[in-house]
Amino acid sequence: MFDIDVNYYPRETLIEFAVAYLQRLGASTEEAAIVADGIVTAAGRWHPGKGQGLEKLFRLTIQCENGGIQPGAEFEVINETPAIAHVDGHKGFGYVVADKAMHLAIGKAQNVGVGCVVVCHSNHFGQAGYHAETAAKAGMIGLVMTNAAAEMAPWGAKKAVLGTNPWGIGIPRADAPPILLDMALTTSGRGMVMWAHREGQAIPDNWMLTTEGRRSTNPADFFSADENAIVGTQYPIGEFKGYGLSLFTDVVTGVMSGALFGMSCFTDITNHDVGHFFLAINPDMFMGRDQFNTRLAQLIAEIKQAEPIDPDGEIYLPGELEFRTQAERRTTGIPIDSATVDKLRVLAAERNVDCPL
Ligand SMILES: NC(=O)c1ccc[n+]([C@@H]2O[C@H](COP(=O)([O-])OP(=O)(O)OC[C@H]3O[C@@H](n4cnc5c(N)ncnc54)[C@H](O)[C@@H]3O)[C@@H](O)[C@H]2O)c1
Repeated sequence: MFDIDVNYYPRETLIEFAVAYLQRLGASTEEAAIVADGIVTAAGRWHPGKGQGLEKLFRLTIQCENGGIQPGAEFEVINETPAIAHVDGHKGFGYVVADKAMHLAIGKAQNVGVGCVVVCHSNHFGQAGYHAETAAKAGMIGLVMTNAAAEMAPWGAKKAVLGTNPWGIGIPRADAPPILLDMALTTSGRGMVMWAHREGQAIPDNWMLTTEGRRSTNPADFFSADENAIVGTQYPIGEFKGYGLSLFTDVVTGVMSGALFGMSCFTDITNHDVGHFFLAINPDMFMGRDQFNTRLAQLIAEIKQAEPIDPDGEIYLPGELEFRTQAERRTTGIPIDSATVDKLRVLAAERNVDCPL
């Protein structure tokens, strides 16, 4: 991908720093541990331009200091049956609210085969796949969705109405990391366009559409005249199909939960009011675990044995590349963009937090 200036750090160093910094922002020990694990895991798996790593501390700082995030917020179950729950996150850390909601869904799936939890009044929860992986680690099939800031236009329109609304799908495997599909419903994100712009590189013509709905490979076409903001809309995966999935996502996360939706979501940084959806499915309730594992292994074997187009190529399962990257970075350290490091040093100094970066 892009050649960028990064510094490498051991995971433990990043966790230690993130926990101390989040506690200074008001997070409890438990909250700080959950958020730190989410953002450091993201940094360990993805390209820094994906924007899910330690750079998330910038917005968390603003929101903790302006009341947009309320450390210690109540996780309120408003309504519940054996299979579903409707939860109010009360402006808690999105990562923490999501973690609790996924565990609630898992418990229901263990009891009655399926657990579905819908959440309102939450915040950005990081990687959708992180929470789906929680379900897979508990032996459940997990499906996680969230709404987000309007960046995608309805197919054929010029103006963004829907979010990148990512999906996480986790499928447990016996003695192997789960299958983990973790994806925005847009082909790329603003962060990657900014990287390309910084590096003076062209982008594929299906990453964004201009404010007039045109394609372009020149990242400069997606910047405001003062070069300070990205304009234009994110390109939906599968075009009108991705638009349809994003619309569905906003219905089950925003409309059905009581959170904001469409163009309102993420507009007020003191009240992002994000909505999430968590589904856990217990394979044991459909067939014995051994039978499920055997049949899944057969499907995976067929996929892995499919002849690659490139004779030297390899067929990957969703999530496999990120798990490999994570394993490599246990040796190399985790790359953090040096501009992010500089900013974190300043934020930490301002708040009297030791910064080992
Ligand atoms: N919370 C939010 O508001 C928000 C919004 C957007 C994205 N995100 C997060 O950003 C992260 C990046 O999302 P993305 O859409 O840019 O990811 P991506 O496009 O890089 O990857 C999407 C999925 O495709 C799989 N994949 C990639 N290449 C593959 C191959 N050759 N074979 C098989 N599978 C392959 C990956 O394993 C991954 O599961 C995710 O964690 C996502 O949840 C969060």
